[in-house]
Amino acid sequence: KLKVATIGGGSSYTPELIEGFIKRYDEFPLTELWLVDIEKGKDKLEIVGNLAKRMIENAGLPIDVHLTLDRKAALTDADFVTTQFRVGGLNARAKDERIPIKYGVLGQETNGPGGLFKGLRTIPIILDICKDMEELCPEAWLINFTNPAGMVTEAVIRYSNIDKVIGLCNVPIGMEMGIAKLLDVDHSRIRIDFAGLNHMVYGLDVYLDGVSVKAEVIEKLSDPENSSFVKNIDGMGWEPEFIQSLNALTCPYHMYYYKSKEMVDKAIESAEKEGTRAEVVQKLEEELFELYKDESLNIKPPQLEERGGAYYSDAAVRLITSIYTDKRDIQPVNTINRGAIASIPADSAIEVSSIITKDGPVPLTMGDIPVEARGLVQQIKSFERIAAEAAVTGDYNKAVLALTINPLTPSDTIAKEIVNEMMEAHKEHLPQF
Ligand code: NAD
Ligand code: G6P
Ligand code: MN
Repeated sequence: KLKVATIGGGSSYTPELIEGFIKRYDEFPLTELWLVDIEKGKDKLEIVGNLAKRMIENAGLPIDVHLTLDRKAALTDADFVTTQFRVGGLNARAKDERIPIKYGVLGQETNGPGGLFKGLRTIPIILDICKDMEELCPEAWLINFTNPAGMVTEAVIRYSNIDKVIGLCNVPIGMEMGIAKLLDVDHSRIRIDFAGLNHMVYGLDVYLDGVSVKAEVIEKLSDPENSSFVKNIDGMGWEPEFIQSLNALTCPYHMYYYKSKEMVDKAIESAEKEGTRAEVVQKLEEELFELYKDESLNIKPPQLEERGGAYYSDAAVRLITSIYTDKRDIQPVNTINRGAIASIPADSAIEVSSIITKDGPVPLTMGDIPVEARGLVQQIKSFERIAAEAAVTGDYNKAVLALTINPLTPSDTIAKEIVNEMMEAHKEHLPQF
């Protein structure tokens, strides 16, 4: 028996995951996949779950797919638990994106006020899941994809009894894929030394067949076309003076920090024109679920690539497979620092290239984040920690503090005003306050 439980199974990303399990079946012979959702997500679970069953049947594999609203049944004796849920759904995300821009502050899913509030809604639920895991599958690995993945992983490390937790994001793999495309080579020849935090990760070096091509790649990051590697962020290109002297590869989310003014202006403009990203994604999702309903569809439809989480399946299933087979290959994951990055606390979550063993990720020693980037990384780590503390304790002052120390917030007064309005808007999902 080899059992995986996926929480938030009704997500439109589920076909990604199924594709991953099908591709790697030889190495990871999954027998049971339990897709779990909540009452509100019942219809989505049904539709995407049936597509999952058709995909598996089409591949001719003996994997039993269970669709359930009973989380405990799904977790019982699971070997791996993956999470991809969204508390409050895309309506809550739309509020995270709309409210801050009224105050001239970025409204974004995982950064600034939106990231804080997604964390405040999500952390109590993930800690509940951890409690269930302690009881029902204490040996299982928790692979968390739920955003804000860095803050959520930090919270699990700090506030749960689950040690076997790994946070996962598609940005690092997306950067490797994107850079392979820029250099017109197969992605298997590219490797990046990743160090930093989730959505705040740097490439300290990048290699083609083991030889550094950092200077060449960095030069290309000045072209707006090449400066983002995910669908949900339009890159704006870096000033050559800045990026060349920074001398590290940026991730797409750095646009919000090193081009804050332009990115806020752009967020305000697109919110007026085509709606916020959540609103765009709502339409996309409707179209996807219409496709998923088609009984003749039995593969992952290419339209799913319009979502920001491309390559999720590869990232998730290659990670699970490497743990299962003790492969000891290198993959970028969110894990406990343990000294890999000197200036981040040893017990904090970082995003870092790691050797993936049966006992989990062993982070590669990166020395330190270069001084040019170190301060920002530390500031975001402080934000994540205080935010996680606020989520667990329900301490309102800590929530204001977290948002005030976030570099995207211009003042303590504005932070407090945004927190007040967002607490009210999200109150049904914030029972701790
Ligand atoms: P979604 O809105 O489709 O939500 C997925 C499912 O979660 C829904 O079916 C919903 O009913 C369910 N859900 C909500 N609360 C739940 C709960 N308490 N228990 C179980 N299920 C619950 O979201 P999506 O757009 O598919 O994204 C899913 C998650 O994955 C989000 O948190 C998103 O931020 C994250 N994500 C992460 C990355 C990454 O790089 N780590 C990339 C893409 C998406
Ligand atoms: C990115 C990120 C995710 C984020 C997603 C948004 O790639 O890594 O963490 O959730 O894309 O995509 P969406 O299509 O929902 O805007
Ligand atoms: Mn991500």
